[in-house]
Amino acid sequence: MAGIVVVGSQWGDEGKGKIVDLLCQTADVVVRYQGGDNAGHTVYHQNEKFELSSLPVAIINPNHLAVIGNGEVVNPKALLLEMKMLRERGLDISGLRISDRAHVIMPYHIALDALCEQASGGRIGTTKKGIGPTYADKINRRGIRMVDLVDPKSFAEVLKEFLPEKNNEITKLYGGQAFDFQTIYDEYVEYGRQLEKYVTDTTVLLDKLSQEGKRIIFEGAQGIMLDIDHGTYPYVTSSNPVGGGAAVGSGTGPNKINQVVGVVKAYTSRVGEGPFPTELKNEIGDKIRETGHEYGVITKRPRRIGWLDAVALRHSVLVAGITQLSINSLDVLSGLKEIKIATAYKVDGRTLDHFPANLRILENAVPVYETIPGWSEDISEVQRRQDLPVNAQNYLNRIEDLLKTPILAFAVGPHAEQTHLLKDPWSEDKEVLHTI
Ligand code: IMP
Repeated sequence: MAGIVVVGSQWGDEGKGKIVDLLCQTADVVVRYQGGDNAGHTVYHQNEKFELSSLPVAIINPNHLAVIGNGEVVNPKALLLEMKMLRERGLDISGLRISDRAHVIMPYHIALDALCEQASGGRIGTTKKGIGPTYADKINRRGIRMVDLVDPKSFAEVLKEFLPEKNNEITKLYGGQAFDFQTIYDEYVEYGRQLEKYVTDTTVLLDKLSQEGKRIIFEGAQGIMLDIDHGTYPYVTSSNPVGGGAAVGSGTGPNKINQVVGVVKAYTSRVGEGPFPTELKNEIGDKIRETGHEYGVITKRPRRIGWLDAVALRHSVLVAGITQLSINSLDVLSGLKEIKIATAYKVDGRTLDHFPANLRILENAVPVYETIPGWSEDISEVQRRQDLPVNAQNYLNRIEDLLKTPILAFAVGPHAEQTHLLKDPWSEDKEVLHTI
């Protein structure tokens, strides 16, 4: 089996959906391996706009299998609504498969996410979709899996076992409203009934496809800097977007992964709390936010904007095993007189060129910037790297040099035909494409 992992290399919202959709055309299956309906993937496919959150992007491509891997957490109610929305738009979603080992986001998880955020004064700035509490229960061995949801007897047993504890937490710790067993049971058994035909052992399925020589795209959600182990902890999500997460979250071996494509937005954005050394709290940041429509797909929150941060990106390349880059939203920078890239941080007079674990150090980090002259041309219709204005080419070249990783694709707008592949994504060739 050949496999390509697609990861977000920053704090999410890099435009992974677009590149997954493009790579999907060269593959047979797409597997989402982590996250839940906190993710928002916007894809323009055949001139139609799709906003997906739980479903793998392959779902909008007929003749592809779209697999929700064991590492994703599933809100059955939200998933069914998303499926309904696609059916109403005339899509055939029979290619959907859901891992029987995927954990279920229960209503008490959503309540606990909101209550915990409220009690801490919005400490993390989560999406309040119940993601953290669901993964916490999974690790704490109090989770409910899809295999339970589709079996009413098993579902009753696990819900009976865990609900009193959750209700205690909700009422005694946070003063919230307890959940009624029967109400949840009736509602969720019905969701299980509707989802049952899609639920299967996806590890066995992927192994079978592998033996048939099929190509798989592993679709990451969020971004490496939000990874629970390698991101800006505690200002992170609760799963592992890194390349290695693809193996764990899909039940395939790491030996099945040939390439890891790191999607990089030509600048940086972030939603939620946490340090952000290159943040632009000025009119340049405002201009980029407006031009790039930088508002959350899920929460509609305005995103924080900053210059490209090569220190954070080097960290991502390292921890995610990124072998190729896909640079998005280059068009958004058109019209800026100059563009900056942080190449290192200065902390207490010392120069730091790796991303520190200590957030206090990060909060005091002053970026060391390299300035590249901007370009004024509209580049939204440029198709070849060599046809970009020379300063835009220089910008791409510099990113390649700083990250020592070749560029596989660049995008000059949100539509599929504005994303351009520079080479065969499946080739093992690791050469940097430009000559320095
Ligand atoms: P959670 O994933 O809802 O627990 O939120 C934890 C952090 O991850 C918050 O800062 C969220 O804003 C951020 N986050 C979660 N999902 C996404 C995403 O898809 N894009 C960008 N940020 C996200």
